[in-house]
Amino acid sequence: MSAVRLGLGGPAIDHPGSTAAALLQVRGLSKRFTLPRDTLFGPRPELAAVDDISFDLAAGETLAVVGESGCGKSTVGNLVLNLLSPSGGSIRFDGEDLAAADDARWRERRRDLQLIFQDSRSALDPRLTIDCQVAEGLEIHGVATAADRAAMAAAMLEAVGLGGDLARRYPHELSGGQQQRAVIARALVLEPKLVVCDEPVAALDVSVQAQVVNLLRDLQRNFGLAYLFISHDLSLVRHVADRVAVMYLGRFVEVAECEALFAAPAHPYARALIGAVPAARSRHGRRVPPLRLEGEPPSPLNPPSGCALNPRCPFATDLCRSDRPALRRLADGRSVACHHAEALPGAVVGPDIQPARAVS
Ligand SMILES: Nc1ncnc2c1ncn2[C@@H]1O[C@H](COP(=O)(O)OP(=O)(O)OP(=O)(O)O)[C@@H](O)[C@H]1O
Ligand SMILES: [Mg+2]
Repeated sequence: MSAVRLGLGGPAIDHPGSTAAALLQVRGLSKRFTLPRDTLFGPRPELAAVDDISFDLAAGETLAVVGESGCGKSTVGNLVLNLLSPSGGSIRFDGEDLAAADDARWRERRRDLQLIFQDSRSALDPRLTIDCQVAEGLEIHGVATAADRAAMAAAMLEAVGLGGDLARRYPHELSGGQQQRAVIARALVLEPKLVVCDEPVAALDVSVQAQVVNLLRDLQRNFGLAYLFISHDLSLVRHVADRVAVMYLGRFVEVAECEALFAAPAHPYARALIGAVPAARSRHGRRVPPLRLEGEPPSPLNPPSGCALNPRCPFATDLCRSDRPALRRLADGRSVACHHAEALPGAVVGPDIQPARAVS
């Protein structure tokens, strides 16, 4: 494939907003893990890692998923990639119901859905040079002739900054950042439509993180990729995301345009999370007031009744203790799962503004 075919140097593809036809449409997605028994004859405990999540992702868009360790971010990514099978809900990709796809169909679709994760450098084969490994992916998927595969691998490696001599090196001859670039080249040479990036730079030195993230953004523009970008690094997320989903104990509690969320998070958990980032300010310089939550996140094995945040939330009422709030759209377009989102002190969308319909 030529550089032109790869889209290098071609016109940037606009990011469609969330209103564009969805590339990925997730509805009511759940994943329960059944754990080993605590006692010989006791019941097997169930853990709801992902609980009734719905979202859309448009072609070329980046949706970030943020939240504390163990809230279910990677499980969402693994479900989308069919590395885990869901306990409930549906996933439509490019109009196709992936739950109904058999193994043969999944092998065909696998090319369109790629994963870049924190430790993916460890998945590089130490015995093969980088260019061979990038070409190998094409061979596995039966793409092109051997000569074309070599040319496609070379063009892709050039695009990630590993052209010429570097392409013929073995993984151990590369730095950590270069290895992650090689992993990115291996995923993107297949021309996927969606890449799940699960903490893609968390294992890299801070100085290299920005380079790799900028590379991911450039490649997104050139190839029109959609990213499901999983990270607990909010500064990074602010730099890359179009929209952000804030996750708590297996559920999305707020989904908003990136800048709107960082300027004024509406859900108490989002306020706590974003208020704790030292640099979290709106473009107008307004500081997001920090909100302290009491205690630690509860065990997903034994979630509280009602709103999962209620034991820690300073605004919790009896309603929060008894009824679980649905994710609903507020007047400014964001979705929030909080009974009192409009009435909280400093609320971004006040009670005088019509709240809205439930998210489908
Ligand atoms: N295979 C599994 N079997 C049992 N429980 C699991 C399994 N995988 C994940 N879990 C549990 O599901 C919950 C969500 O895990 P997940 O890895 O999705 O969280 P995460 O948000 O990606 O966390 P981190 O930020 O640490 O990567 C956790 O309580 C975890 O212990
Ligand atoms: Mg994870």
